[in-house]
Amino acid sequence: MKHLIDIMEMSVEEIGQLIETANDIIANPAKYAQKCKGKKLATLFFEPSTRTRLSFEAAMYELGGNVLGFSEAQSSSAAKGESVSDTIRTVGAYADIIAMRHPKEGAPMVASRKSIVPIINAGDGGHNHPTQTLTDLLTISREKGGFNDLTIGLCGDLKFGRTVHSLISAMSRYEKVRFVLISPDELKIPEYLKHEVLDKKDLEYMETADLEAAMPQLDILYMTRVQKERFFNEQDYMRLKDSYILTPDKLRNAKQDLSILHPLPRVNEISIAVDDDPRATYFEQVRNGKFIRMALILKLLEVK
Ligand code: CP
Repeated sequence: MKHLIDIMEMSVEEIGQLIETANDIIANPAKYAQKCKGKKLATLFFEPSTRTRLSFEAAMYELGGNVLGFSEAQSSSAAKGESVSDTIRTVGAYADIIAMRHPKEGAPMVASRKSIVPIINAGDGGHNHPTQTLTDLLTISREKGGFNDLTIGLCGDLKFGRTVHSLISAMSRYEKVRFVLISPDELKIPEYLKHEVLDKKDLEYMETADLEAAMPQLDILYMTRVQKERFFNEQDYMRLKDSYILTPDKLRNAKQDLSILHPLPRVNEISIAVDDDPRATYFEQVRNGKFIRMALILKLLEVK
């Protein structure tokens, strides 16, 4: 049985196959409408979510399956002190596959060791968010026709941003990818990512605090939110929260075929005036999230 805990557990070939399936689902949705008839997905969300939870649920419904679960820890027996392991053993008796979000890093990994059904990590603390990365990869491949020879700017909270960590790791496996890491000093990417991924693979990257100076070279701009929930004190959050606000003016020197991505939710970091720019791709990215999760459910349930 297979789980998805970290995007790096998937080979480049497996990701390519998932993207192929997602593209086929987009082109031929009716072909997939009954593929999961009689199957149940449990969504166990110990932390808030709009896109990830609802896209998983929509994905299972569109495959003809059913959904059960909870959307906050307080409405589950976790509020009474039940462990993640016991919750997972229990839910495995009711569902065929589980998507789980938890504020503790590593919780989905612990769950996978106890589970009799596939576990999908739907975000664990500031660590990983592999299905967001699959969403990002599907979006990049549809926008750019592939992954090679791209300059990717990642901007905002690169320290706590789990989507950033997973995306850098995933993109590091393609040819001639360059990273521009745009953040304030306090929110730079963790040292382990620099050493274990960027330096080890001898990848081209630069760190800067200047979004506008970096803009002209970018093929992809991946904006992120400064995440209030990851800060230990309010003062630091207040000081850093508006470090970057993307406006139409700041896109003046951007490439005409730039794609602007954001895992969402956004707060202030992209002005709503940018939404009308044809380069704004973040709502298309939201739509892609449902299709790639449909493809993932089919793969983990071994549905042909
Ligand atoms: N991108 C993402 O994970 O959004 P949600 O927190 O709304 O699920």
